[in-house]
Amino acid sequence: MKKVIMDVDTGVDDALAILYALESRQLYVLGITTVNGNVPLGMVNANTLKVLSLADRADVPVHPGADRPLMRTSEHVHHIHGDDGIGNALDDFSYSNQCQEQFAADFIIEQAKKHPGEVTLIAVGPLTNLALAFSKEPKLSEWLDEVVIMGGLVSEMGRGNKLPNSEFNIYTDAEAAQIVFHSGAETTLVSLDVTKQTLLSNRCIKTLEGRKYHDFVQQSTEVYRAFSKERFNLDGCALHDPLTVGYVLNNDFLKTKKHHVDVDTVSPLNYGQTVCDFNNLLGREPNVNVCLGVDAEAFVSHFLETLGREG
Ligand code: BDR
Ligand code: CA
Repeated sequence: MKKVIMDVDTGVDDALAILYALESRQLYVLGITTVNGNVPLGMVNANTLKVLSLADRADVPVHPGADRPLMRTSEHVHHIHGDDGIGNALDDFSYSNQCQEQFAADFIIEQAKKHPGEVTLIAVGPLTNLALAFSKEPKLSEWLDEVVIMGGLVSEMGRGNKLPNSEFNIYTDAEAAQIVFHSGAETTLVSLDVTKQTLLSNRCIKTLEGRKYHDFVQQSTEVYRAFSKERFNLDGCALHDPLTVGYVLNNDFLKTKKHHVDVDTVSPLNYGQTVCDFNNLLGREPNVNVCLGVDAEAFVSHFLETLGREG
């Protein structure tokens, strides 16, 4: 089984990504690290613990990480993820698992050192914890097998979800993203260009009827689906974070190519923009596998089958 650490800002689609990874039975989730992002860190921690309990996987350790971006102020998005970050779907859910003492970045370093060349880091929130880990331990990039990140947009300019050219995770901590992209680790960016093509519609949710996760999926995504309809006229909410897990489970879901990618940390208009040098105008080393296409149907089917398998 492939060893992974998930870095999350749970978040509706983060919650779905965690369930997908656990229920796939193809990944050994060494632990989950949390980061400020969609909602404040305290809520992220509680949501992550609840989702693990829901999956009967309270054994998976949760390591709290950064409660703010490296240099900026955070803008939370309760209007997309709900008051508590998971659409209030687990309001009355009782859970007894607790967070670990060890800080997220230290856990990442410890595990990568213990299993050199074997750990894939799946990062589906702002990249603050990863930046702290790479800054603290220069050998981390050699120890990790791969870093797979949900973030940015590379080809469809003007179609961001935070600024016209910026995606939320990268925008929230662009300085951190810059550190990660220049870390030397094998890096794949699962960007908005592809994630926005993978939608969870009412019709998809119906296929889970009678299954263990149906009510959670329906309730947790309600606000997010309404927002996606109103703001982007989408028939469903995008499975950003689950697609990132999907790529780790099956590389064939995405078509990728390595290019040089950097992040704008300066311009007020384009702060957090991921700039991909497709034509190699800068003559710099390719550092990031970017996504050029997605088999949305195959991925969404696999996601639903995996979640539907339980119960
Ligand atoms: C990303 O931003 C967050 O709101 C989601 O959880 C996802 O990781 C999409 O831009
Ligand atoms: Ca997320």
